[in-house]
Parts: sequence; C-alpha cells; structure tokens
Amino acid sequence: MKADFWNDRWQRNQIGFHNSEIHPLLTRYWPMLELTNDARVLVPLAGKSLDVRWLIAQGHDVTAVELNKLAVEAFFREQQWSATQTHRPQHIVFHHEALEFWVGDFFAIRKEDLSAFDGVYDCAALIALPAEMRSGYVDAVSALLKPGAKYLLVSLEYPDENMSGPPFAIDSSKITRLFHTSFSIHCHGKHPSEVKGQPCFEIVYTLQRL
Ligand SMILES: C[S@@+](CC[C@H](N)C(=O)[O-])C[C@H]1O[C@@H](n2cnc3c(N)ncnc32)[C@H](O)[C@@H]1O
Repeated sequence: MKADFWNDRWQRNQIGFHNSEIHPLLTRYWPMLELTNDARVLVPLAGKSLDVRWLIAQGHDVTAVELNKLAVEAFFREQQWSATQTHRPQHIVFHHEALEFWVGDFFAIRKEDLSAFDGVYDCAALIALPAEMRSGYVDAVSALLKPGAKYLLVSLEYPDENMSGPPFAIDSSKITRLFHTSFSIHCHGKHPSEVKGQPCFEIVYTLQRL
C-alpha cells in the first residue's frame, strides 16, 4: 500500500480498522512478555490506537509511528493530551511525557534515530502490508530491537477468496518464513473475530528477538 492509499483513508475518515476500545488480546497477552514497567516499547503503524494509551499506563516508554499527521493529531485531541513537536529531517515527533509519536514513514526511521527497544506491539501493522513489503518491514522492526526483545503480534487468517486486503490474511507458514531467522516464535491460538463483516481468526504470536 502506498502512502496515498492510507492518507486518503484518513482524509475521508474511512478508518474501519480503528477500535473504539482497547484490544482485548493486548490486555490478555501483553503480560506474557514479562517486560519491566520501564521497558521501551515500539508501536509501528499505530493509527490513533487507544492501545498506545494502555501501554503507557503500564509504565512503558512508548514510541508510536504513524504515517498520517491527521491521525496523530486526532489521537492527542481525543486523549486530551497536549504535545510538543520537534522536527526531524523526515518526521515530526509529538512528545507527551513517556510517549513519542513519530509522524512519517516507518521505513525511513534509522537505527541511529532511536535507542533500541525492549518490546513491540504489532496490531494491524504487519497485516496492513501487502506481501512484497513484509520482509522489509520485519527487517526494519528487527533493526530497532535489543537482542532478547519481546514482540506481541496479532495476525489474521481468513480464506483468501473471501476478500481482498488490507487487512491481509497471513497464515502461520508465512509468519514462520518472515520471522524465523531473527526471532523465536510461539503461537497462542486462534480467536474468532470479524473483519469487513466476514468471519476470520485473529492469531496471537509472541516472538523473541534472537
Ligand atoms: C490498518 S491501520 C492500523 C492502525 C492501528 N495499528 C490500529 O490498530 O488501529 C494501518 C496504519 O498504518 C499506517 N501506515 C501505513 N503505512 C505506513 C508507513 N509506511 N509508515 C507509518 N505508518 C504507516 C496507516 O496510515 C494506518 O493508520
């Protein structure tokens, strides 16, 4: 998906992917990562997800990244949080206490821009990307992590013929192919869900950076 696709979705407020509640699989599975409260956590392709707020409430230092500025402005407005802004060559960074919200292309963030992370929360991020972008995404996330960093991934499965993505169905063999060289992988089962009115399964994985 090109930037135009997502910017257009935000511009038209066609954001069916946005959850008005904290994701129940986050609150259920995040404790399994056993991260310390002060862990540095990365949330790629964050939208204006309320899950960011929940992660901060756990005491984590959170860095979220989102392409679209309207989304990030909406996040701060809806949370009623003020933010200061700093300008980087390719990003605007909104700062609020333990949160840095980077506006711009996730793929343009360099390892040198940020201290390494202890954890990642990936919800509707990997599955938002078409097949040809996924290994580049996994490399980009991996480069930002400490060895041993923990990763909570919520993937999606549905019969491919039922709909076209995003979100894309990514089965466990594809997850293994994408992650096995840099991560250990544990699958925690399927949770029935619905996307675009179609039944599907959300699949939870915990990964650990080798
Ligand atoms: C399916 S939405 C999910 C948002 C959020 N994770 C959630 O669960 O609500 C994917 C988001 O990724 C953003 N996005 C897409 N490509 C991106 C990129 N290259 N860099 C940063 N954000 C990107 C889009 O603007 C969109 O808000």
